[in-house]
Amino acid sequence: MVKKSEARQKEKILVTAALPYANGPIHLGHLVEYIQADILVRFLRFSGKDVVFVCADDTHGTPIELAAAKEKIAPEELISKYYGEHTADFSAFHVDFDVYHSTNSPENKFYSDLFFKKLTEKGFIYERLVELTYCENDKRYLPDRYVKGKCPKCGAEDQYGDQCERCNSIYQPVDLVEPHCSICGSVPVRKQSLHYFFKLSSFSQQLQQWLGGNKLIQDDVRHFVEGWLKSGLQDWDISRDGPYFGFKIPGELNKYYYVWLDAPIGYIAATEKYCKEKLNKTALEAYWQNYDAKIIHFIGKDIIYFHLLFWPSMLLAAGFNLPSDIVVHGHLTINGEKMSKSRGNFLTARDYLAVAGHEPEFLRFYYASHLTKALADINLDFEDFKGKTNNDLVSNIANFVHRTLVFINNNFDSKLDNIGDDEKFFLQQLQPKYESVIKHYSEYNFKEAVKGILELSSIGNRYFQENQPWQLVKTDKKKCHKVVSVAAAIVRNLAILSFPILPKYSEKILRLLGYESTKNLGLGELDKPVPAKKILAARIIFAPIEETILMASVFPAVLKVGKVEEVTEHPDADKLYVLKVDIGSGKQKIIQLVAGLRPYYKKAELLGRNIVVVSNLKHAKFRGYESQGMLLAADDGNRVVVVSPELSQPGDLVYPEGSDPEKIASSRKQLAIEEFYRLNLRVNDEHIVYGTKPLRTAKEIISVDAAEDAVVR
Ligand code: MSP
Ligand code: ZN
Repeated sequence: MVKKSEARQKEKILVTAALPYANGPIHLGHLVEYIQADILVRFLRFSGKDVVFVCADDTHGTPIELAAAKEKIAPEELISKYYGEHTADFSAFHVDFDVYHSTNSPENKFYSDLFFKKLTEKGFIYERLVELTYCENDKRYLPDRYVKGKCPKCGAEDQYGDQCERCNSIYQPVDLVEPHCSICGSVPVRKQSLHYFFKLSSFSQQLQQWLGGNKLIQDDVRHFVEGWLKSGLQDWDISRDGPYFGFKIPGELNKYYYVWLDAPIGYIAATEKYCKEKLNKTALEAYWQNYDAKIIHFIGKDIIYFHLLFWPSMLLAAGFNLPSDIVVHGHLTINGEKMSKSRGNFLTARDYLAVAGHEPEFLRFYYASHLTKALADINLDFEDFKGKTNNDLVSNIANFVHRTLVFINNNFDSKLDNIGDDEKFFLQQLQPKYESVIKHYSEYNFKEAVKGILELSSIGNRYFQENQPWQLVKTDKKKCHKVVSVAAAIVRNLAILSFPILPKYSEKILRLLGYESTKNLGLGELDKPVPAKKILAARIIFAPIEETILMASVFPAVLKVGKVEEVTEHPDADKLYVLKVDIGSGKQKIIQLVAGLRPYYKKAELLGRNIVVVSNLKHAKFRGYESQGMLLAADDGNRVVVVSPELSQPGDLVYPEGSDPEKIASSRKQLAIEEFYRLNLRVNDEHIVYGTKPLRTAKEIISVDAAEDAVVR
């Protein structure tokens, strides 16, 4: 499909994804963006473009300093640890950067200084005294995340000094309402310092023009930016006082570039790393000052301000290319809720991979099925995920591929037949479908591309079904051979069209069909004959996923071992005991529980016994007595048996095997009793299971002497 003239002068495109902070793991929210960008890159390459895909870790500033301080290590050590983790996680999800660099690199230092010099020479940088927050106790300025308080715009509590996570507005630490120091909690004072400012306000008009002339930028994004332009741009403070982890400003003793100055320059630094090694050129020659090259940025909606105001202005000021497109995606929600540690639904790339049967490509497929070029949030709904995986990917696509190839393996010695005129006509009818899938990809509408692919696969399944090759092979073997050879051509085309989303799966299929690799393949393959003289033996590649999707990683109940210290009868309820229970540590060491155990246990049988307590239940009152949790017991309809882990100590965490106890323990979510019941804990082989995972402490798998399938609550 690529014409000769185009092939000679391939369009040069640079694609970037936002640089993740080197202060934490890659999570499922991040992956929305990296998978989205990776799909586009693979598609563009298949369309014959010359694409380079770059990214890096964002290593400077207060988020990194604070995280390093928390782990009691140097920032350098922290960023090198996350560099290793991030690159491994991206590669596990087949996000295939041409270079993955770091903003703490010589290339980035070089370009940051170059920007600073150019901007200064052109008169876009000036110095001004500013009022800053300063902690008398810690004897330091408190930039950005070192200070917390209420957002001055929307009033949201517990916000950092640079940006509000609720309304996304950007402000100064001194603007925070009721500020306090993140290190020691004391109220900061104000202190002056001489800072460098970038004249953002001079760029209003040029930004307006760029925005007006750029048809690719999403309308919602354009509206945001036009709103900001209308209300007037403030000049931008690009320096921070030491101590600060970053690049020192040349000629200064204790001043550094603000992380958001050198972070986007990291795009150029990463390009430089690639160009020096692979092209023997500078990043400027190849991309950032080469007007024949296109630059596409992928970002999330929380960083629009930086990428549509600060960054283009810096590029304009330095005389570099502006991006031709900035693709902004919405945020990931999990079962409709914002992802957060305190909700216990913060899922990392590694949590996902830890669940048996969770192929990385299932997530790529799921995200693709939801991604459009829109700002709307993307919801990872566990039921929907299971449905999309099992019905669309496994039962529709993978099943068609498998049944076709196996049939040819078994009945035709794995050989394909030439396709006759009748069959050709049938295949030609599918052309418009291919073209529509391609068009949707090129418009970043992966959701529709997936729909088109599924439609093709359904057509393939129907064609197979209607021709009944298992009958036909007995009555007209020649005709049957043609039919399944047509099906094989559709299989090949499905593999080509889904390659951007399912690169490993598609590659496996294409290899079975005689391709040596996917390296030099492209969309032009769609109307060629399948190359295999003899196809290879088909294997099952994707298996459906089971019920327990992602469950182990998000166990929402904080269960702790407790020891019964006191038992009294409830004065007004003849079934209830009031217990005092030692749960080790925490805000409260001794808690009170009300339990309906009087018909089943004598006081002495409970006293001194270890039990398991649900410690994050919403408190409830039973006839005037507060219950600050609930103890676990198995109930098979006849007997009620208190769960009693004997080898553990009060305070030990109880968790489903395979999940991360630290993460569970850090949950601040308060569970309603119905939510707890929904976990559906049951007895299986004398263990208490959540899905298929037994509950345990660090010391023992907990057993209980109760009938099979008894309810535990
Ligand atoms: N370091 C900055 C970007 C600098 S770019 C010069 C940053 N890092 S980040 O780690 O917080 O986010 C990296 C990217 O992931 C951003 O584009 C961000 O929008 C995206 N996402 C982070 N959390 C996300 C979700 N929950 N959902 C979707 N995307 C999210 O910002
Ligand atoms: Zn302090």
